[in-house]
Amino acid sequence: MKCTLLFLTTAAAFSLVGCKDANTAGDIIVGEYASLTGKEATFGTSSHEGTMLAVEEINAAGGVLGKKIKLITEDNQSKAGESATVVNKLISKDGAVAILGEVASSRSLEAAPICQSNSIPMISPSSTNPKVTETGNFIFRVCFIDPFQGTVMANFATKTLKAKKVAVFTDVKSDYSKGLAKFFKEGFVKAGGQIVSELDFNGGDKDFKGQLTTIKGASPDAVFVPGYYTDAALICIQAKEIGLNVPLFGGDGWESEKLTEIGKDAVEGTYFSTHYAPDVASDLSKKFVAAYKARYNGKLPDAMAALGYDSAMMLADGIKRAGSSDGAKVRDALAATKDLDAVTGKLTINEKRDAVKSAVILKVEGGKFKFVETVNP
Ligand code: PHE
Repeated sequence: MKCTLLFLTTAAAFSLVGCKDANTAGDIIVGEYASLTGKEATFGTSSHEGTMLAVEEINAAGGVLGKKIKLITEDNQSKAGESATVVNKLISKDGAVAILGEVASSRSLEAAPICQSNSIPMISPSSTNPKVTETGNFIFRVCFIDPFQGTVMANFATKTLKAKKVAVFTDVKSDYSKGLAKFFKEGFVKAGGQIVSELDFNGGDKDFKGQLTTIKGASPDAVFVPGYYTDAALICIQAKEIGLNVPLFGGDGWESEKLTEIGKDAVEGTYFSTHYAPDVASDLSKKFVAAYKARYNGKLPDAMAALGYDSAMMLADGIKRAGSSDGAKVRDALAATKDLDAVTGKLTINEKRDAVKSAVILKVEGGKFKFVETVNP
């Protein structure tokens, strides 16, 4: 390889700075893009904290292929358009050999084509829309997908909430929301339920009362809101205000301490599905919870933190098995990931480059998220 030869034949190691094959010099550069600020700031922050902890542990244990991993993180401010910009920069300017991110499916869908066309492996920690990994063979994820999550919540609505008639309230700006709404509806109808109202909002809206009044008019037994936490909390508040007093429930997008901070009493008794609960702990998970708390002032890790951690661990494992940080070789190694011990459960990558994992259902109780059950695929 050109860079290696240069390295061996001249002493001008510094000329290698910026060389795209970081396997030949210095650190292994890994790029991360995340919503560290803006509307979904808690998603990006949690995910980044988990990712960083993993990288620190890997480096403390000697790194990979005798090199340290250097994590370069860019904030997309939760804004559409920014992920493409920062991921282009991470690849072309910083020379990242792999990319970690994002949480939100729409943002992963923005960056995935860029990684794919540059033959740079991308691992999304927690984007659940199926289209993310369908982008191409360099795109992976360490979480389950929404056809599964939608079915889990459809069965939950039928069996636990005993709902026969459900209304679905979807964020049309979000690929995640649209996908999860669709898979939920399919599952619920299959389980014998009836969808009595389907209405839309735009993520970031402040007034949901018009649609909620229409939903109330359809007399549902429960309302499914596949959205993100800020909107979900406001929807719960306004549902109470207009006297829509049936259970509201959602998916992983509800998981944030902001849900209870914003929603307070209005989110009490609501349910949502997610990937991980620190209280159902394997030994590895217990170790992770302790390390995370020690690193971040006693803070308890959420699903995004655990999945961020697992995404970095899976990448390091892939690079190790590839024996190289070359994109195509790492891609092949990642595709062969099997039974990797991960904080969120054993990790095996299937032929669609997705992970097959169980889901957990949590209930909001006393301002906390209480573990209800684990649902296996
Ligand atoms: N699954 C969501 C999406 O794809 C993101 C998310 C993951 C939110 C995990 C919370 C917890 O957009």
